Amino acid sequence: MRLIIRKDYEAVSEWAAGHIAERVRATPAGAACVLGLPTGSTPLGVYDRLASLVARGGLSFGNVVTFNMDEYVGLPEEHPQSYHTFMRERLFSRVDIDPRNAHLLDGNAPDLEAECARYEAAISAAGGIDLFVGGVGEDGHIAFNEPGSSLSSRTRVKTLTRDTRAVNARFFGGDPAAVPATALTVGVGTIMDAREVMILVSGASKARALRHAVEEGVNHLWTISCLQLHPRLVIVCDERATDELKVGTVRYFKEIEAAHDAPP
Ligand code: GLP
Repeated sequence: MRLIIRKDYEAVSEWAAGHIAERVRATPAGAACVLGLPTGSTPLGVYDRLASLVARGGLSFGNVVTFNMDEYVGLPEEHPQSYHTFMRERLFSRVDIDPRNAHLLDGNAPDLEAECARYEAAISAAGGIDLFVGGVGEDGHIAFNEPGSSLSSRTRVKTLTRDTRAVNARFFGGDPAAVPATALTVGVGTIMDAREVMILVSGASKARALRHAVEEGVNHLWTISCLQLHPRLVIVCDERATDELKVGTVRYFKEIEAAHDAPP
C-alpha cells in the first residue's frame, strides 16, 4: 500500500488527477484505459481538474472506458441526485469521452439481479478495470459495500444503512427518508479484481475510516480494510484525515514517499 499524504483537499485532488492522467496517457495506442469511477463530494476536485486538462488539450478521454461504482435503485436517471446526472454534469459532458464507453448501473432495470450480472459481464468484456478510483464512507464503506458486506462480493443490490442514508440526506433536502433505501453496487471482490485501486480520503470525518484502512486488520465491518490485500493500492489523503493515525504511521509513510520522490 502507498499512502500519499497531502496538505489539504486541493492538493489531494491535484495528485489524484495527475495520477489518472498519467495512466490514461500511458495506455498503448489502440488499447483502452478502463477506469472505475466514484460519485460523492470527494472526487469533485479531481473531475474539475480532469475537465480542465481536457479543455487545455493536455488530455483526451478518447481511449477511456468507464464503469461507475454504484447507483440508487428507483431514482429516475434524470433525477438531480441520481449518479447518472452527477456523472454527466461533473465529468462526462466536460470531457471527450464517447458516451457509449461510459457505463453506469441501471437502478431502474426491471430485473435488478440480471442488471448486476450484465454489469459484471460488461467489465470482463472490456478486459477488466485498470484503475478503480473510489472514496470512502465515514463507516469505512467502499462503493455501497456497507459494514458486514462479504469481502468477496460481486455487483448486487444492497440495502443502505441508516447511517449512510443520514449522511447522504444532505443531497435530499436533509431528509434521510428521501434517500433511496437500496442501491446497486459493485462488490468488494469487483474492486479487488482491478489492476490498481486509488482511494481518496479527505477531512476529519474520514479519520476513523482511514485508521481502519491502514492500521487495523482486515474486517468486513470496515470494507475498505480489504484493500490491504490488494497488490497495487494507493490511498491519497489530506492531513486532517490522518487525525486518528499514529504519529509513527504518518512519519513512516511520509518517509517512504520522500524516498520515492527523491532524485536517483
Ligand atoms: C457514498 C458513495 C461512496 C462514497 C461515499 C462518500 O456512499 N456510494 O462511493 O465514497 O458516499 O462520499 P463523500 O465523498 O461525499 O464523502
